[in-house]
Amino acid sequence: MISNNDVYYIGVNDHQIDLFEGQYPVQSGMSYNSYLIADEKTAVFDTVDIHFTTQWLNNLSSALCGRKLDYLIIHHMEPDHSASVKALAEKYPEVTLVGSAKALSMLDNFFGANVINCAKKAVKEGDKLSLGKHELSFIAAPMIHWPEVMMSYESTEKILFSADAFGKFGALDVKEEWTDEARRYYIGIVGKYGAQVQSLLKKAAALEIKSIYPLHGPILEENLAEYIKKYDIWSSYSVESEGTLIAYTSIYGNTKKAVELLTEKLTEKGEKVTVRDLARTDKSFVIAEAFKYGKIVFATTTYNAEIFPFMSEFIEGLVERNFKNRTVAFIENGSWVPIAAKIMKEKLSVCKDLNFIPQEVKILSSLNESSICQIEELANVLSK
Ligand code: FEO
Repeated sequence: MISNNDVYYIGVNDHQIDLFEGQYPVQSGMSYNSYLIADEKTAVFDTVDIHFTTQWLNNLSSALCGRKLDYLIIHHMEPDHSASVKALAEKYPEVTLVGSAKALSMLDNFFGANVINCAKKAVKEGDKLSLGKHELSFIAAPMIHWPEVMMSYESTEKILFSADAFGKFGALDVKEEWTDEARRYYIGIVGKYGAQVQSLLKKAAALEIKSIYPLHGPILEENLAEYIKKYDIWSSYSVESEGTLIAYTSIYGNTKKAVELLTEKLTEKGEKVTVRDLARTDKSFVIAEAFKYGKIVFATTTYNAEIFPFMSEFIEGLVERNFKNRTVAFIENGSWVPIAAKIMKEKLSVCKDLNFIPQEVKILSSLNESSICQIEELANVLSK
């Protein structure tokens, strides 16, 4: 439990979890952050995942030191943060639940009609709540990451309680660099909603923020401009880093040989290249990297008059997250009717502002003189 001017960290680390949200591998675990402000009034900011209710209630009890609990601020109703609301209401029946009207209406959906009977206070954008010397202002943040989400700004310590925003995968007792896992987390869960994040960043620009307290990952207290800049890049679908991502599948190794040759040619020209085998790397990592770099090469085979399944899922993941504003090239392989490039292009046609490089590589089973020339030509175009 960490205390900072009456603000306590009372969250938990989860090292039991294998897949966050049932889909994202989290090799470093996950944190479910929760905070307490103990002023004239006491307020808890969000609960935790159902598997950690007891540990979290113990953390809260220690921080309260016997005081009564006045408020639970509910920023987000996704169960990683709301699953322990019922247990809290049972232990502290005098508590008032504070959330957006939509969040409060979701309580019955999760816990059953009229199961949670303590007082409730609906708040909206701009409403304030005084805790004593600390005052909260509420900020609507719909679709970051659900429609009911709100954030709170505490004006004395100048803290932004940012809900899911500015979070990352990984438990807090695992030391790792912020950006890669924050990017994978952001692109994975919020990537589709860049416009809403841009709108939030505009509101945040009007606030003096000294620290950001997210619901996952570390509290951010230094170089806040760098973190906010990353969110601006990701939510505006801008290029974060120069370089080319090559995402491929290969059944018998021939497409892989083409990828290796292209990598060699690009590297010789001084290009930064990242290569990912989609059958052997979880797609959440590769999708996040596709949003990092400015250029991407898709390399796959024709398969059942479609494209290889891992590539199909990868492209669906990009489209779902509004992939845009990138330079795109294709390598296709097929033994009798190669149509992979055509299908990949069709699948990506709904994405805005993609620059399709006309120089495609066509492999008829294995590399030959013609496809080697096409790879050299593609390397020349990509490195211009
Ligand atoms: Fe961390 Fe959208 O829940």
